Amino acid sequence: TKGAAMVTAVASRVQAQRKQIDKVLALFRLTREQLVGVRDKMRVELEYGLKRDTHPLATVKMLPTYVCGMPDGTEKGKFLALDLGGTNFRVLLVKIRSGRRSVRMYNKIFAIPLEIMQGTGEELFDHIVQCIADFLDYMGLKGAQLPLGFTFSFPCRQESIDKGTLIEWTKGFKATDCEGEDVVDMLREAIKRRNEFDLDIVAVVNDTVGTMMTCGYEDRNCEVGLIAGTGSNMCYMEEMRNIELVEGDEGKMCINTEWGGFGDNGCLDDIRTQYDKEVDEGSLNPGKQRYEKMTSGMYLGEIVRQILIDLTKQGLLFRGQISERLRTRGIFETKFLSQIESDRLALLQVRRILQQLGLDSTCEDSIVVKEVCGAVSRRAAELYGAGLAAVVEKRREDQGFEHLKITVGVDGTLYKLHPHFSRILQETVKELAPRCDVTFMLSEDGSGKGAALITAVAKRLQQARGE
Ligand code: GLC
Repeated sequence: TKGAAMVTAVASRVQAQRKQIDKVLALFRLTREQLVGVRDKMRVELEYGLKRDTHPLATVKMLPTYVCGMPDGTEKGKFLALDLGGTNFRVLLVKIRSGRRSVRMYNKIFAIPLEIMQGTGEELFDHIVQCIADFLDYMGLKGAQLPLGFTFSFPCRQESIDKGTLIEWTKGFKATDCEGEDVVDMLREAIKRRNEFDLDIVAVVNDTVGTMMTCGYEDRNCEVGLIAGTGSNMCYMEEMRNIELVEGDEGKMCINTEWGGFGDNGCLDDIRTQYDKEVDEGSLNPGKQRYEKMTSGMYLGEIVRQILIDLTKQGLLFRGQISERLRTRGIFETKFLSQIESDRLALLQVRRILQQLGLDSTCEDSIVVKEVCGAVSRRAAELYGAGLAAVVEKRREDQGFEHLKITVGVDGTLYKLHPHFSRILQETVKELAPRCDVTFMLSEDGSGKGAALITAVAKRLQQARGE
């Protein structure tokens, strides 16, 4: 009977622990009402950003991009493209052939060391120009004077396609003396400083816009661009008459929503958890980009880490021992989350991944870690879905359609690598925007190809105006 009593005691302890774990996981489960609430709030913020009076205070910035049309297939030529702000920095050569709608690309990836990401603006842009020089050398294009499109994936205020003032850095960047400056000017000056070649900078483009363009090249219905990667953002084609910041009422213009800032006015506080707050407070830009910090690859692993720390403190994981590793920021990259959540992976393999990360786990630990990852990434995908539902519904209503058929161009490591993210995102949109028929189209390198296409269109318009 003593043995039996012990068994009961252990069983009830296990049960109590399970309860505590479930309580934490439950914080990440959103009800349908909560998701509808997120969709409706996003809609309000989209409208705020578009209206002249409310724009200056809007948290979803709704930035005009001066991209007004899709490529028509007559674009052609050789272009350089730069891609800064995603997982890698890249320089590309893009050859567009008209008629056949075919594009050939050559690219080189360069590392941007942390000390440059967070050094001075001059150092950052000198480094970029150094990389361009390497690439031109490598391609044997030293003297060529090619038109260049700059994919710069940060919020920029634009007054034309070739001017973009950085509003503020997001994600992991923090180089000094850039905010409030025109990034095209900074690039031009760095090229001048080097005094080795000349480039014709034609367009500065957000990665969402490049993604939309790339997909729009193949599918006329593509009017939305979505990034679910290091950062979280969306752009879409809006009616000119709704964009109060820009003169004119005819046609459409692409708006870079910068929806990562959704919630910065506190409107998502009812669903933010203590873990979200910890991630925010430990970031480079506390108080900013709250939606992004709940949804994008750069932060999901951090939310997981905060939860694991808390569970460990409560004695529910890792035998109650918080290791140095677990205290280290950034250990859970998107690729690890994706591996841990893969259904094909046996628990033993999950443990092996944790081992690689320097975390010693029991079999029970690995189950809990997997559940935590699942809860965090599910919520992210649902929040994305709610945001996207707001936009497609707006498009449907604005055009006065009973039903809307629309294509969304998508890119980003989270969308592409994660085993469940894309499915949950799509299911949520379907549920929350039932009158829209949304097709998702994976973009093949939107940042490179898209920048080149936009550059090609801009160049054609420039020439038509006789510039
Ligand atoms: C961040 C940037 C935004 C970009 C997104 C995805 O949210 O502010 O401009 O589109 O990341 O890379």
